[in-house]
Order: sequence, then structure tokens, then C-alpha cells
Amino acid sequence: MAARMSGLPEFATPEEGRLTNEMIAAFDDAGVIILRRFATPEACEKLRERTIELVDAFDSGLVRSVFSTKSNAQLDDDYFISSGGATRFFFEEDAFDSTGALKRSKIDSLNKLGHAMHDLDPVFDQFSRNPALAEIAARLGFQAPQLVQSMYIFKPPGVGGEVVCHQDSTYLFTEPESCIGFWFAIDDADLENGCMHFVPGAHKGPLRRLNRRGADGKLATKIIDETPLSDDSAVPACAKVGDLVIFHGRAPHLSAANTSPRSRHAYTIHIIDGACVWPETNWLQRPPTLPFRGFV
Ligand code: FE2
Repeated sequence: MAARMSGLPEFATPEEGRLTNEMIAAFDDAGVIILRRFATPEACEKLRERTIELVDAFDSGLVRSVFSTKSNAQLDDDYFISSGGATRFFFEEDAFDSTGALKRSKIDSLNKLGHAMHDLDPVFDQFSRNPALAEIAARLGFQAPQLVQSMYIFKPPGVGGEVVCHQDSTYLFTEPESCIGFWFAIDDADLENGCMHFVPGAHKGPLRRLNRRGADGKLATKIIDETPLSDDSAVPACAKVGDLVIFHGRAPHLSAANTSPRSRHAYTIHIIDGACVWPETNWLQRPPTLPFRGFV
């Protein structure tokens, strides 16, 4: 039986990613499952250390790009729009003081790193191309899983902002839809530092919005279904270091601001099925020299 301590279906990580029928049924039912202790603390620490190296090497005096699900500053930001095949650095909206200086250290000012580290950096590649993840994808019905996006999310203490309720297929759309997300806790995530929340079963509802790249290269979000995206029955997905949250591309999810003195680092990858069509209207496009790849 799936334990229901967190309110979401959770399981001990199965050996070599062999999801059981019960786990698959729970995923189909809730749109989200938690696998406890998927990654070792050592693997998580290695990813954090590599991220710190990348951040240390990044010149924050040159780039001041903000990512926010509230202001949507990224929608007409070329640094963001062209980041599908790059490693780029995005700040929190509240990271700057009135003079434009960072209020805190660089690492405690960033919202995220994205979106192709899994194809550009050996440490991210090794963490992401885990045979157990390939097995999970196969058991969830993927014919040709492709890793389309990676993000290292910082959610820093004090300035880590709220992420409003959304569905990831809005941003990573295939025809037919196939996106799922893998979210790994690099720090413990709880109610104080802004853990993720999901609305169990709500992935069975329609996709509400579609983010599209227009002919002018700019991004815009179009409402495709007026049904409200309610988070009234959202349930926290509290997680310990190394836990893996697997969620459906239509699963509504959100997270609160980090009001604690602790960071809430997490790593995410999103996969789609290469058997589906990846439209040119998706914001995330790769240069021809860096096509999407699978787990091998
Ligand atoms: Fe999301």
C-alpha cells in the first residue's frame, strides 16, 4: 500500500526504477508520486557543488535577468527565450535593492539555472542520465523519452519567491501531450522553505494555458480552457534530500515563498516522448548542433 503521510502517494524507491503496478496506478490516479531516497546524499551534494562552481564563474554584473511566475518578466527577455540550449542564470525578483545591487550573495539571489545543463555539463549529465530514470520512463509508457529541459532551482532564503499554480505542459507542449517532470530535492523541502504543492487528481482536467513563441520570436500565453485552475485542495509535497517527485505535465502545482533562513535547492528535468511532435511554437528550441537526447 502507498503510504499517505504527506497526503500524496509515496513509496520507497524501487530497485533499478522498476515501478510496480501499484505505483503506476497511483501516478495515473493522483498525477504525482513521491519516491523516497531516489538519489544518494552524495550525488545531490555533487550536483550542488558543481552548481556553486558554475555560479562562482558567472559574472552577475553583466546579466541581470529575472524569472518570475508573477510578473512574467522572462516573456520578452531574449536571454531567457534563447536559453533552451544553454546554461543561463536567472535572478529572483526581490534580489536587488533600490540601487540595483544584490541584497545577498550571488547564490542566494538566484531563482534558477537553466535549461540545458544535462547536455552541456558532465556532472548534470551523469545525474540526469540515470538508468533508473530510463526504466521509470519506460514503465510510464514512454516509447522514446527525450530530456528537453533541466533546471537547478535555488529558492533562496528570504527572497525565494512564490511560484503560482500552473501546469508544465503549458510550457513544454507536444502533440499529443507527453511531458512529465522529475523533481529532486537537493535540500530538505518543507512548509517553511516553500516545498512544492500538488492538487491530487487534477491532472485529469484540461490544459488551461499554452505558452507560444510568436512569429516575432516573443512569447505569449494563450488561454485554451477557461476552467479555473484551483489550488484550494493543494497538498504539500514535503521532501528530504534525494527524494524524487514525479509529476504529470497537466498536474497543477505551486510553491510558496521561502520565508525560512534555509535555502530550498532542487533539480528538475522534464521529458517528452520523441514519438510526439515538438512544435516550433514551443518557447524552448534547440540549435541544430544540440538536438534533444534520451537517457543514453
Ligand atoms: Fe512547474
